[in-house]
Amino acid sequence: MLIGIPRETDPAQPLVSATPDTVAKLLKKGFEVQVQRGAGVASAYPDELYEQAGAQLVGEDVWHADIVTCLDTPDKESLSALRSGATLIARMDPARNEDVLTYLSERGITALAMDAIPRISRAQSMDVLSSMANIAGYRAVIEAATAFGRLFTGQVTAAGKMPPATVYVIGAGVAGLAAIGTAHSMGAIVRATDLRPETAEQVESMGAEFVPIPVAAETSTDGYAKEMTSAQAEAAAQLYAREAAGADIVITTASIPGRRAPILLRGEDVAQMAPGSVIVDMAAASGGNCELTRPGEVVTTAGGVTILGFKDLAGRLPAQASQLYGQNIVNLLGLLCPERNGQIALDLEDEIIRAITVTHDNQIYWPPPPVTVSHTPQAPAAEPAPPEPAEEPKKTSSRLWYLLGAAAAVALVLSSPLAVASHYIVLLLAIVVGFYVITAVTHSLHTPLMSETNAISGIVILGAILQVGSTNVLVSALSFVAIMVASINIFGGFHVTSRMLTMFRQEG
Ligand code: NAI
Repeated sequence: MLIGIPRETDPAQPLVSATPDTVAKLLKKGFEVQVQRGAGVASAYPDELYEQAGAQLVGEDVWHADIVTCLDTPDKESLSALRSGATLIARMDPARNEDVLTYLSERGITALAMDAIPRISRAQSMDVLSSMANIAGYRAVIEAATAFGRLFTGQVTAAGKMPPATVYVIGAGVAGLAAIGTAHSMGAIVRATDLRPETAEQVESMGAEFVPIPVAAETSTDGYAKEMTSAQAEAAAQLYAREAAGADIVITTASIPGRRAPILLRGEDVAQMAPGSVIVDMAAASGGNCELTRPGEVVTTAGGVTILGFKDLAGRLPAQASQLYGQNIVNLLGLLCPERNGQIALDLEDEIIRAITVTHDNQIYWPPPPVTVSHTPQAPAAEPAPPEPAEEPKKTSSRLWYLLGAAAAVALVLSSPLAVASHYIVLLLAIVVGFYVITAVTHSLHTPLMSETNAISGIVILGAILQVGSTNVLVSALSFVAIMVASINIFGGFHVTSRMLTMFRQEG
């Protein structure tokens, strides 16, 4: 079958639905590929690269192919150029474009909506919404950093100290997590909130602190947020206002599928933010999470807060966004053409194919039957949780080691002469107390703690000095080594501590 890759009909869309790399992959699956001249130019893929990859360059004929792939639904004129019986693959927003569905079904066109791919594990490799949200989340931070006009990372320089920027992310889905990771890697202090408490672990693994809504929502069973109760909404509104007021950058990504984006920041909340702060409202296209957002525009409030309502964040990184979109299409065509013979078969029993098929055989197939989707593995519904077999042997074996260790220690004390036994008891007690003291200290304090406690090495030095003059050569040699190593520990520890304290010391 022949696949056509047209230039997007919206001149503001810089992406292209196939790159030279994905064209080569389509050819390997047995398809022929035609690319409209200039289709990839805005994504920095010139025509020659497509030709080298094996595609044929064409003009408007591209619309006559058996399968046409696009980013978004083409304009009416281009749709009318599609052959009856052809397949159109694009983001179609089928819930809001009934007239397009009617037109396509009347023309006998099979339409597959890339934005209807269900969020199930098997469909991840075709999920264009996630691909684009991931890139958009990254770009949101870059846009915020540009508008913010200050460093993200904290620095201590000879000319003074600069604190790190504080970033608050609302909504920890694909876009939110990408934004968290990017802001954290740029050195900002990041905090994040999501309606779904189960996202806390992901937020923390990306380097941010999870700030829960005091009246938590129930654990999501389908990976998407539900509408909030009024108690949750009240608690959340107060939290968002407070967190936003303390942040330099707020990135909002909250969305509930099929609904207008919830308003999370009101005008009075924005007024509490410091001049120079930035809000990136990623949900601008679906109405915005901030009351003052103007979709597609940049607004600066009287209080000096900049609100970015960009709807084309993924399009601002077009080369990679096109590559990911093209790869999503390749993966979908892999599902449609398992034989790799260049022929597609529409198996409507397959839940992914059924979910994205919006028109076929002169019929409208939208909306599809619901698919159970999940960001996280679900717990079994009715059965009680099984015991944890992996943990039990580990616990038993570590308990056994503790018991053996304790028995050996008691045997050592009992078998030693009375004068030495008391030393062993002190040593054993020191080990137990030391273990509990060290393990109770938070990770961030380990370095100063260890450098200070290295002073204990002083005791080692004293003991070693007393023994270094021994007539036994082995004892003197060991004492000498102990003095050297313990000295390095002491002086190194104090040096590290001193450097760390300088970093945090207030001036004046
Ligand atoms: P997602 O569904 O993966 O994540 C949305 C998150 O928001 C979910 O984790 C959900 O639990 C959370 N949420 C919903 N209501 C909330 C509330 N009231 N408070 C706190 N958290 C709440 O969606 P994804 O893919 O991350 O996209 C996020 C948004 O970014 C969408 O609105 C999407 O349309 C938009 N987007 C914007 C782009 C742009 O160029 N501006 C590009 C790509 C995506």
